[in-house]
Amino acid sequence: MDNKEESINFSPVIIGTMRLGEWGVKMTNNELERFIDECVELGVIDFDHADIYGHYSSEGEFGAVLKRRADLRQKIQNTTKCGIKLTTKRRPNFKIKSYDSTKEHILASAENSLKELGVEILDLLLIHRPDYLMNPHEIAEAFQLLKKEGKARHFGVSNFTASQFDLLNSFISLKTNQLEISILERSAFENGTLAQCLKHGIVPTAWSPLAGGSMFGKAVSSVKTRILLVAEELQQKYNATLDQILLAFLRKHPSGIIPVLGTSKIERIKSALDSQKINLTHEEWYELWQAAIGEEVA
Ligand SMILES: NC(=O)c1ccc[n+]([C@@H]2O[C@H](COP(=O)([O-])OP(=O)(O)OC[C@H]3O[C@@H](n4cnc5c(N)ncnc54)[C@H](OP(=O)(O)O)[C@@H]3O)[C@@H](O)[C@H]2O)c1
Repeated sequence: MDNKEESINFSPVIIGTMRLGEWGVKMTNNELERFIDECVELGVIDFDHADIYGHYSSEGEFGAVLKRRADLRQKIQNTTKCGIKLTTKRRPNFKIKSYDSTKEHILASAENSLKELGVEILDLLLIHRPDYLMNPHEIAEAFQLLKKEGKARHFGVSNFTASQFDLLNSFISLKTNQLEISILERSAFENGTLAQCLKHGIVPTAWSPLAGGSMFGKAVSSVKTRILLVAEELQQKYNATLDQILLAFLRKHPSGIIPVLGTSKIERIKSALDSQKINLTHEEWYELWQAAIGEEVA
């Protein structure tokens, strides 16, 4: 299916909300409001949520800001995800952790996200992880209904293999595959998922683009030591910080990977925006790749 029609335009970086609440820095309502305001001032209007973040509490905390700030609500784009069921006291009826992409679950989850976020429409709704029992007919039906009812604008997936993406995309146009991509998690470069995004003209988004923060601080593995050595040279050449080099590594791919940043600090978002000025050479990219895999390419 051609996905170019009605494509979605993301900010140069997307702000992940996973670590802002209970699962991370536990921002107060006022801190979260200031943080969103500052992101918007920087022109960063995309926020990435999931029903499960903070054990089903993070969307509601974000929504508490949006509910009293209609002006902000108008300015931002919200992505959210559904399809994972977590066991938590907030969902006492879930017996075990499982995946569920039945029509019934998608519709109920989308309704809940709308309510929690305090928005009339979800800009982008993703299936969080491939459900081994997924029925593409059912998912497409759920997505079409949400679109028809004006409850979701665009649809996509996360963590889908190329064949799983293909299957669902043949029923309904998908606008992204949100994948784990970083210098430490490079499988998307090799397993066809990024190639597929290029083929369909859709933008891949990268979760944990800075490997969840594990590249910072003391290197404790030989992989990290090798990467940091190469990165240091590039930092000098480009007068850049480590995060900027690691983001430039992702940006070099022609699919136009957009990082979903997990930081809670505005200065790091500014730094990520500034990293757009860095265009690594082909050889420099392969120096980082070689450091990561520990040998020459074949
Ligand atoms: N689709 C999925 O399955 C999936 C899975 C996981 C996550 N996600 C999404 O992806 C988003 C990002 O994931 P992530 O949080 O793992 O991304 P990340 O950006 O790779 O890591 C963020 C972590 O790195 C730290 N960090 C960033 N820059 C740093 C620096 N210069 N020095 C030291 N520490 C630094 C941050 O701390 P500070 O706050 O101190 O900067 C934060 O703890 C999540 O919020 C979520 O929206 C999606």
